[in-house]
Amino acid sequence: MLILGVETSCDETSLALLKAKCGKLELQKNLIFSQIKTHAKYGGVVPEVAARAHVEKIAMMLKDVLGKKTKPDVIAVTAGPGLATALLVGVETARTLGYLWKKPVVAVNHLAGHIYANWLYSKQIAFPALCLIISGGHTELVIMKKHLKYKLIGQTRDDAAGECFDKVGKILGLPYPGGPEVAKRATQGDTKAIKFPRPMIDSPDFDFSFSGLKTAILYYTKNHFKIDSSTPLRFARNDNTKKDKIIADICASFQQACIDVIITKTIAAAKKYKVKTILLGGGVAANSELQKQLKIAITDNLPKTKYTALPVEYCGDNAAMIAAAGYFHALKKQFIPWEKINADPNWDLA
Ligand code: KG4
Ligand code: ZN
Repeated sequence: MLILGVETSCDETSLALLKAKCGKLELQKNLIFSQIKTHAKYGGVVPEVAARAHVEKIAMMLKDVLGKKTKPDVIAVTAGPGLATALLVGVETARTLGYLWKKPVVAVNHLAGHIYANWLYSKQIAFPALCLIISGGHTELVIMKKHLKYKLIGQTRDDAAGECFDKVGKILGLPYPGGPEVAKRATQGDTKAIKFPRPMIDSPDFDFSFSGLKTAILYYTKNHFKIDSSTPLRFARNDNTKKDKIIADICASFQQACIDVIITKTIAAAKKYKVKTILLGGGVAANSELQKQLKIAITDNLPKTKYTALPVEYCGDNAAMIAAAGYFHALKKQFIPWEKINADPNWDLA
């Protein structure tokens, strides 16, 4: 079975070709066009601009991904959650191709895609699995007892983890998007330099909260720097020589606060639900310090639980993960007629 994956939920236009043979997944192509440069000047993703950029790219990318190949057997497209106008570009593309080629279409939930990224490289994933989805729009802990069955056991009550990284980057005047930039600065800083709060770390549930942490960073920064959006950060005491070190310490201390909460909740959930596997997904999963510390925590606390770090190229948004999830839907013949497929910006995974 040859699956065409289509992903346009936010600011990456991505198309992939995935071949499935005897249950083995072989990724043939995974084209990703990032719109980061376009949105950087606005300091965030502008939905209308994102949609227009998808429209400008998708036809040429389709030509590149298909090459001289025969038509795929299945078209898998992200139908939500995401930005409405951006999602529509992928959905309308899938609808048109489904009609023209007379091929079945699968509507894939973007978060399911982030989970199924793990099947692109890991062959044997035992259930029950605990999935930690940490992206720019979501922070969720989900239990999977079998394929395509999800039970939400915890989520953020306010900001998503990635959103918090991005906002901290903005407070510190770092380039957009803040997540990778904060992670980079953190490598030069001291994780113990500043004691930031670990919101909800002791709560008995599996929910998260990141907005208070972001506010703590805002106040700390205001106390040390003059914040003026038109100029770079300047020390309130007019001493700019230590600026880079202070920023690195804020980044490292903030990142460690996030990691502590995320790992504590994940380990507690894995113990409670006696899972055999822990899976990661979403852009924040690209954070190497988080991956490293999670691996240590699992080895120390749950030596029998399987965890394999997700390769960075599958953490952020990509169509390969959508094709992978689409394959499992296709096995169950969960197709949707091309006339009926719709974008659902608020589609909950579970
Ligand atoms: O999954 P994703 O590509 O898009 C959404 O579905 O939201 O995640 C993007 C998020 C952004 O907030 C970005 O700043 C964050 O992932 N991110 C990171 C890192 N790389 C990307 N956050 C922390 N550390 C990173 N290395
Ligand atoms: Zn995503």
